[in-house]
Amino acid sequence: MDHFNYRDGILHVEDVPLSAIAEQHGTPCYVYSRATLERHWHAFDAALGDCPHLVCYAVKANSNIAILNLLARLGSGFDIVSVGELERVLAAGGDPSRVVFSGVGKREDELARALDTGIRCFNVEVAEELDRLDRLAGERGVKAPVSLRVNPDVDAGTHPYISTGLSENKFGIEVEEALVQYRRAARMPNLEVVGIDCHIGSQLTSSMPFIDALDRVLALVARLRGEGIAIRHLDLGGGLGIRYRDEDPPHPTEYAEQLFRRLGRHDFEILIEPGRAVAGNAGILLTRLEYLKANQTKHFAIVDAAMNDLLRPALYGAWQEIVPVAPRNDVESHSYDVVGPVCETGDFLGKSRELRLVPGDLLAVRSAGAYGFSMSSNYNSRPRPAEILVDGSAVYLIRERENVARLFAGERLLP
Ligand code: LLP
Repeated sequence: MDHFNYRDGILHVEDVPLSAIAEQHGTPCYVYSRATLERHWHAFDAALGDCPHLVCYAVKANSNIAILNLLARLGSGFDIVSVGELERVLAAGGDPSRVVFSGVGKREDELARALDTGIRCFNVEVAEELDRLDRLAGERGVKAPVSLRVNPDVDAGTHPYISTGLSENKFGIEVEEALVQYRRAARMPNLEVVGIDCHIGSQLTSSMPFIDALDRVLALVARLRGEGIAIRHLDLGGGLGIRYRDEDPPHPTEYAEQLFRRLGRHDFEILIEPGRAVAGNAGILLTRLEYLKANQTKHFAIVDAAMNDLLRPALYGAWQEIVPVAPRNDVESHSYDVVGPVCETGDFLGKSRELRLVPGDLLAVRSAGAYGFSMSSNYNSRPRPAEILVDGSAVYLIRERENVARLFAGERLLP
């Protein structure tokens, strides 16, 4: 459930009509609902109940510091993949001792900074990362907390670009190799093995692949324990899907029940790293129709947002619902390709959408709170959109619209 609903014929975000936001802040812009965001985070936290746990929101999904701050206030942990994300969490008032650091290519300066801030755990994905961490921790006289990200080789049944748990994917360490690397890590003087980690993909709509992955992780944990290598936490990654159209992903409670059923009696702390399921349906992209154009085969609705603002349709062929802010009945309906101004055939937000439109109308692209702004770019020298957060009837600008001067502010002419 989210807080984007029609009232008196106008789509509202919480208590605010989206038309008022367009009026005040212009378009395109991202609009988020605080109540929705918090509700989704609480759903995960509550699902894990009394079991010791930490919900580590995946910062990459939406990394605006106002969003991170709201989650930090709830006591959230964070899953980061770069020093940039770490600095965002710190700027947002996040607690470094609740941060886990994932990623296949962590640079030395990134590991050093994370060690200095005292993060909760390094999710190690490459054997040599252990050696780097051991050396850097030794130089600082600290112990680096590590878990290995295991690649369980299960098919997450999702889009190939966002599937990460197959042996052909670059992520994680194969089970047999992980055993070898755990033995090595356990012997390193400046490392402390604290957990095990896996993340098999994103936008999963069934619990089965999670359970299959958990089975393989638990089998490895048993072997490690047999060798005296204690694993205190299980980090099960993120990946729970959301409804964009007609998907029916398990609710966090259902997902957690299945995990607990498989785990039985246990003494692990459970970490999870949801991104999309927290932020996805808490945001929309608000855009205005510039022109209608038709040729012999197609009707096009040309809007002021484009693939640089929201890349998912162009990159993955992702389907996101597009709805009018103020539905009308006074014009004919057509099947429109909703496209942006960028010079690429792949620049579309939706195809074949049955809509009644007049230039100037506002449209909302739904489910855009995750992997929306965070994947935006300046392609075609387009300043990135503003971000707005609504809390009840209060409207906050949480990122100002970029201006053109900023686009080339760091560029230099030759002497
Ligand atoms: N943990 C790790 C290690 C990850 O790599 C990811 C996402 C997450 C957690 C969060 O997964 P989530 O709960 O959001 O599914 N840009 C793509 C999604 C890429 C996901 C990458 N990793 C999209 O727009 O669909």
